[in-house]
Amino acid sequence: MKNAIGIDIGGTGIKGALVNLKKGELVTERLRFDTPDGGKPESVVELVVKLVKQIDAPKNTPIGICFPAPVKNGVTLSAANVSNEWIGLQAGKLFSKALGAEIVMLNDADAAGVAEIKFGAGQDRKGLVLMCTLGTGIGTALFMNGKLIPNTELGHIEIDGVDYETKAAYSAKARDNLSFEQWAKVLSKYFDRLNRLFFPDLIIIGGGVSKEHESFLHLIESDVEIVAARSKNNAGIIGAAYFAAKHLSKD
Ligand code: BGC
Repeated sequence: MKNAIGIDIGGTGIKGALVNLKKGELVTERLRFDTPDGGKPESVVELVVKLVKQIDAPKNTPIGICFPAPVKNGVTLSAANVSNEWIGLQAGKLFSKALGAEIVMLNDADAAGVAEIKFGAGQDRKGLVLMCTLGTGIGTALFMNGKLIPNTELGHIEIDGVDYETKAAYSAKARDNLSFEQWAKVLSKYFDRLNRLFFPDLIIIGGGVSKEHESFLHLIESDVEIVAARSKNNAGIIGAAYFAAKHLSKD
């Protein structure tokens, strides 16, 4: 199997493309729709079907979908930045039925991490690697010697009495009008806590803002090596496609 489709559902956008599985690169233009208001299952499924049609890949191309919640056996287990209707939903089955194809689903940060471990900043890294996506929320993925420990939800760690993603996600920087210097202070506190709980060997920062890593990465104070994701905002798409090919292909 040479290519697979990756779809990345987020709190603000739904993105997708066909991915070359050897290189970990997009082979079609990245398509994007705004996430419909409220992020309800019906309207999200409709847009995913539209996206897959537009990608127009050959029949039986594996499809991987990543989602901003923990996902177990195709069931979405929470809904921090989408409609509560997703909680406990058999979302995998819903997508399969609407697309008329078997699909696999996984958490969005896990997908981004899979891409970085396979093709990007985490390649050949031993020990504990923590992927952290800074977007509408904070997503995390943990890898031990390259093996994913799925569905970690470390964006919701409570610090100073609040669910810390509400303070440290990129959306919070924009909402609170924080400069990169101010935001880096908030992030330093977050990574310090994660370090004292997990002692990771490497932290990879992803999400749209990783494109601007030169503006803030050096401002974060941490004892751990922190680097930017290689695939920037496409990591979710690439990781979802790779995960699907691994779990769905028969060759
Ligand atoms: C969700 C995570 C997700 C992250 C990034 C958090 O609010 O709980 O599952 O990975 O946002 O989208």
